[in-house]
Amino acid sequence: MSKPTFYITTPIYYPSGKAHIGHGYTTVACDAVSRYKRMCGYDVLFLTGTDEHGQKIELKAAEAGVTPKQYVDEVVAGFKDLWQLLNISYDRFIRTTDDYHEQSVQRIFEELYNKGEIYLGKYEGLYCTPCEAFWTESQLVDGKCPDCGREVKPASEEAYFFRLSKYADKLLALYEDNPEFIQPESRKNEMISFIKSGLNDLCVSRTSFKWGIPVTFDPKHVVYVWLDALTNYITALGFKNDKYDDYDKYWPADVHFIGKEIVRFHTIIWPAILMALDLPLPKRVYGHGWLLIGDSKMSKSKGNVVDPVILCDRYGVDAIRYFLLREIPFGSDGNFTNEALISRINSDLANDLGNLVSRTTAMSQKYFGDNLPDIREAEPIDDELINLAVSVKKTVEENLDNFQFSNALAEIWKLISRSNKYIDETMPWVLAKDESKKARLATVIYNLAECLRIAAVLITPFMPVTSPKIFEQLGVGDESLKTWESAGTFGLLPTNAALKKGETIFPRIDLAKELEYLEEEKNKAAAPEAKKDPLEGIAQIGIDDFAKVELRVAKVTACEPIPKAKKLLKLTLDDGYGTRTVASGIAKWYKPEDLIGHSVIVVANLKPAVLCGVESQGMILAADCGEDVKVVFVDGMTPGSKVR
Ligand code: MSP
Repeated sequence: MSKPTFYITTPIYYPSGKAHIGHGYTTVACDAVSRYKRMCGYDVLFLTGTDEHGQKIELKAAEAGVTPKQYVDEVVAGFKDLWQLLNISYDRFIRTTDDYHEQSVQRIFEELYNKGEIYLGKYEGLYCTPCEAFWTESQLVDGKCPDCGREVKPASEEAYFFRLSKYADKLLALYEDNPEFIQPESRKNEMISFIKSGLNDLCVSRTSFKWGIPVTFDPKHVVYVWLDALTNYITALGFKNDKYDDYDKYWPADVHFIGKEIVRFHTIIWPAILMALDLPLPKRVYGHGWLLIGDSKMSKSKGNVVDPVILCDRYGVDAIRYFLLREIPFGSDGNFTNEALISRINSDLANDLGNLVSRTTAMSQKYFGDNLPDIREAEPIDDELINLAVSVKKTVEENLDNFQFSNALAEIWKLISRSNKYIDETMPWVLAKDESKKARLATVIYNLAECLRIAAVLITPFMPVTSPKIFEQLGVGDESLKTWESAGTFGLLPTNAALKKGETIFPRIDLAKELEYLEEEKNKAAAPEAKKDPLEGIAQIGIDDFAKVELRVAKVTACEPIPKAKKLLKLTLDDGYGTRTVASGIAKWYKPEDLIGHSVIVVANLKPAVLCGVESQGMILAADCGEDVKVVFVDGMTPGSKVR
């Protein structure tokens, strides 16, 4: 009989900058569910990937002086490295720049257009001419373009629209009939209010940037972000492409995990697109909370991101995975602090779990050598421990099936704490002194080892590196004792189990010292780097070489932006001998009126070059510290004067 399937997805992340622990949060959660479901016998497809198109990436690439594809290739490689480091067992990684995805999106767009679900209209917005960008009222900063600070004016652009507004009632009915569709519950109410306040049709194409998937029948348009992004969940299965043949097998998805800020896109736009395509809807969309630093969301744009590579190197991957899933109830926001992380490592991992492993294995070796003897003597006090051990699996499952990772771990830790208490109650070191208590002592250690085996099975989805270490110290080689199913039965460990103390699985951290160390590291990272003189390693030039450069005073007689290049200004100069044009990358710092009428210094004998369609005949001198640029003005000097 074929296995039941389970399809789970992360959002596809924007590769506009390095992956951070916030991205890791969703991905680790998906990974834990995937591992759990696989252990329960499901045929799991775990999809993740990257959302690579759009104006933001186009601009980032231009700033870095590379093509958008070169830019995303490098960032995406970093995402994949991080997933490897965090032990993410994804089955498929989709990039929206993959050919098969692009082809499917074009076909989906055509189908929606042919069905009348997409129509050509006008996108109205506030336009910044030099930046060639539309903004909404709320995006403006002090009423001006958030990028360059200049005036914006109302404008409209031809665009295709998806008839989202007509789905309002169907969406409300969907939530009503499927109470599980949006989770947690509180997010559902937000969506209902949003729909009731009125849905607009959705702009699904743009002509003002190029980095996107062209609309086949009108290629000056590229598909605008959400239609391209959301459809990844089906294109990755082979919907309207030949790359995969898994659509029938895995769709509809069992769950999409996403952060709360994109619940609207996943529970309004996405189901509406699927309804328009006459396709089944995902079973659940779970919008989890944010990892906060102080009161703000950790995000690239705020520059407050925590680097997961540094954390994993210092504390180990499983400690980080454990912390993320234990500390914050899935669905709520939670603060990331070094204190909280180290406290969790010390109390839950080093004290509770680590100690239980080392005490149990050390006592077994000390009192019985290589193997436990198969003599037994039970006492009533054992029953409570054993009953708890066999019932934990069920409570963990109930919590995991509802994505309550923190509660699931808390349940496992109840067994771990109860086992530690059992050591204090039974006092094996006292039993060891009495030869007649050998059978009782062996029973106590066996019970502890069996509780540890069950705990090790149950933590496997969360901590895939730690559980094999525990199995090894318990002498569990037999794979059938590591299965999810086996966690429901007590007494599977062989009676002559070979326990062996190994390395400490989670060493304790000195909190005060560690915080001091982290503070020093933070200060080091924040300290400005000693400036390296770029003269080092550059050949000196003689006076004859310098004399070859003809510098002269020139007056700016006219100046205007260059429509296709938001960084450049086109200057017309009178250099005393005639008129020349210069394209200069100073648009961020100067407006044309700041320059007209002033005298500048021009490199007059530079070979002309064409920049964004303008022939530039020279360069003007300016001081540049990266963040600020000041043109060298020599007002009052006659045009044509030599600069020596
Ligand atoms: N590309 C879109 C998603 C398209 S899905 C069809 C996008 N990308 S993103 O790079 O901004 O990533 C968003 C996701 O990263 C969030 O939904 C969330 O899952 C995760 N997180 C990013 N920062 C986070 C926190 N500070 N805290 C928790 N999760 C965070 O939106």
